[in-house]
Amino acid sequence: MTMKSTLLAAAAAMAAMAFSATLAFAQDTIKIGVIASFSGPFADYGKSMEGGIKAYMAQHGSSVAGKKIEVIYKDTTGPSPEIAKRLAQELVVRDKVDFLAGFGLTPEALAVAPIAEQAKKPMIIMNAATSIITTKSDYIARFSMTLPQVSAPMGSWALKNNIRKVVTVVADYGPGIDAEKAFAERLTKGGGSVTEAIRVPLRNPDFAPYIQRIKDAKPDAVFVFVPAGEQSIAFMKGYRERGLAEAGIKVIATGDLTDDHVLPAMGDATLGVITTFHYSAAHKSPENDAFLKSFAAANPAGGRPNFMAVAAYDGMAAIYQVSNKLGGKIDGDKAMAVLKGMKLNSPRGPIMIDPATRDIVQTVYVRKVEKVGNEPYNVEFDKFTDQKDPGK
Ligand code: PHB
Repeated sequence: MTMKSTLLAAAAAMAAMAFSATLAFAQDTIKIGVIASFSGPFADYGKSMEGGIKAYMAQHGSSVAGKKIEVIYKDTTGPSPEIAKRLAQELVVRDKVDFLAGFGLTPEALAVAPIAEQAKKPMIIMNAATSIITTKSDYIARFSMTLPQVSAPMGSWALKNNIRKVVTVVADYGPGIDAEKAFAERLTKGGGSVTEAIRVPLRNPDFAPYIQRIKDAKPDAVFVFVPAGEQSIAFMKGYRERGLAEAGIKVIATGDLTDDHVLPAMGDATLGVITTFHYSAAHKSPENDAFLKSFAAANPAGGRPNFMAVAAYDGMAAIYQVSNKLGGKIDGDKAMAVLKGMKLNSPRGPIMIDPATRDIVQTVYVRKVEKVGNEPYNVEFDKFTDQKDPGK
């Protein structure tokens, strides 16, 4: 061999070694691409999910079936379908992820569904709650809730508590329209009526004029769905400032309004608000105690975990179970077979993935905001067990 060919052979051998090392590394890793908003007005959504994921991994370790779990976070900056879609394509093509996960906002989930379908990647929904989402790909499983699932029980509760004349206020997009419809259907079936149905824009709504309209309509109650976070704070501020409570108008809502993450900052205006929802940080169970503990340890500045944190935690539990069952070799169709019918003891209570719809079946609790110690909490006092998405 000449000097040159020896060098070339050595270089080729080194390249081969480097290649097999990357391959071995890739095969030793299960990758999860998390798509959510980590900046802008919905930044808390991504952060809550990341907090739940970290809590799960702190408690259960960062490897499964001999493989290391790698989580890649991608920021959509808000309800931007184009960005969500591009990020999903990158995760599938470049990062070669095994799972797509996250999705705080419905537009993100709807934009990514066709990519999950085409790439046969299990897509684990950790919040996005418009009913129709799970019908958009056979590779979607939802670990959060649907708006009809949590809104219809409020219709029943209202009737039982002599609330008959209601004004509804919802964010004007998928989950809001779902909430408005499911609540109104249940209420009117029992003899109640929606005297006005108000829809507010998803981006930067000014609640003041709507709140005046509610006051003028003099209903028994106002039923509210707005996306958790800044908008819940803005609505409750307007409610307090315009004296709706003094006018005898009650607030009933889905638990997005009294999101645990922002509730402590919302002040006493929320005391007495009744909501229906799938998770409260005040839920009493050993599973929730363990979750609260690991969330606090893994997120020292994370505040109180909310429903998105718990759905992310459960979504991770599902990914770990699938990975274990498949011996670390993730195949989209086999993963979906494991997810269908999966049962977990969630911090919120028992949950199940309906094998027919891949949507979640769970208990919906009725809660009232009350002070526990010095802080407001959503205290559960009644429940509707085994709730499916009512449209399915
Ligand atoms: C959604 O976009 O599906 C969504 C966002 C915030 C919520 C609930 C649902 O609080």
